[in-house]
Amino acid sequence: MIFHLFKSKKNEKLISEIDKNNLPNHVGIIMDGNGRWAKKRGLPRSAGHRVGAANLKTITEFASDMGIRYITAYAFSTENWKRPKEEVDALMELLLEYLRDKKLLEGNQVRVKFIGDRSVLTDEIRREMDTAEEESAHRTRTTLYLAINYGGQQEIVNAVKNIAKKVEAGQINIDDISLDAVGSELYTEIPDVDLIIRPSGEYRLSNFLLWQSAYSEFWFSNINWPDFTKEDFTQAILDYQNRNRRFGGV
Ligand code: IPE
Ligand code: IPE
Ligand code: MG
Repeated sequence: MIFHLFKSKKNEKLISEIDKNNLPNHVGIIMDGNGRWAKKRGLPRSAGHRVGAANLKTITEFASDMGIRYITAYAFSTENWKRPKEEVDALMELLLEYLRDKKLLEGNQVRVKFIGDRSVLTDEIRREMDTAEEESAHRTRTTLYLAINYGGQQEIVNAVKNIAKKVEAGQINIDDISLDAVGSELYTEIPDVDLIIRPSGEYRLSNFLLWQSAYSEFWFSNINWPDFTKEDFTQAILDYQNRNRRFGGV
């Protein structure tokens, strides 16, 4: 209890240092380290995924209260199908539970959208995705993009195909293929990501938001995602605010 009090006091102080006029518009989170979190505690990997999923709700609500407009959370990559069937099944089951939990949408101002290839997901999951999108569509403060069966390279290939079809159909000319034209063929029109947070001690993108991360800032830490706190999030934002973003200029 005292520890909690101390922690929240400390966080209050950290939060007061945040410059509300210099928040990242879009924060990407690679929710990594669930398996190692569980292993350390002698638990099955699925237990780590469960705690990790709950933590996403906590961090999203906190970020939304702070004033962050867009969050993209990497939940399942196109490469994650390589995992043992048992783990993939557990992740899909958890996703279903997460989407069905109406508390996901209650009491906050978070709109939920999805990026990734839905076509190979079960009808059940796709229905719940549609429902979550529809039921939260009126929320305006923050949009949470859940990246499910998402791969940045696949997203670009998909955009290229769509553009080629338009050229073939005579709807656009090759010279019309611009940065904007490519950007608008990505899964959803989301702003470029300003800050990417990756916990768990890995220093890579793992196929996350390749196009949108052209000028992102990165924040890495050794904390496993289920242990990642509001305080860590606050620290990441503060560090971001001390970066000098030049975008190629001087
Ligand atoms: C991230 O945690 C969740 C998913 C990729 C679905 P991991 O399951 O990758 O956890 P580690 O990296 O094995 O610890
Ligand atoms: C990235 O984590 C994908 C998600 C967090 C969903 P991984 O654990 O799959 O990444 P790698 O395999 O270590 O690069
Ligand atoms: Mg991992």
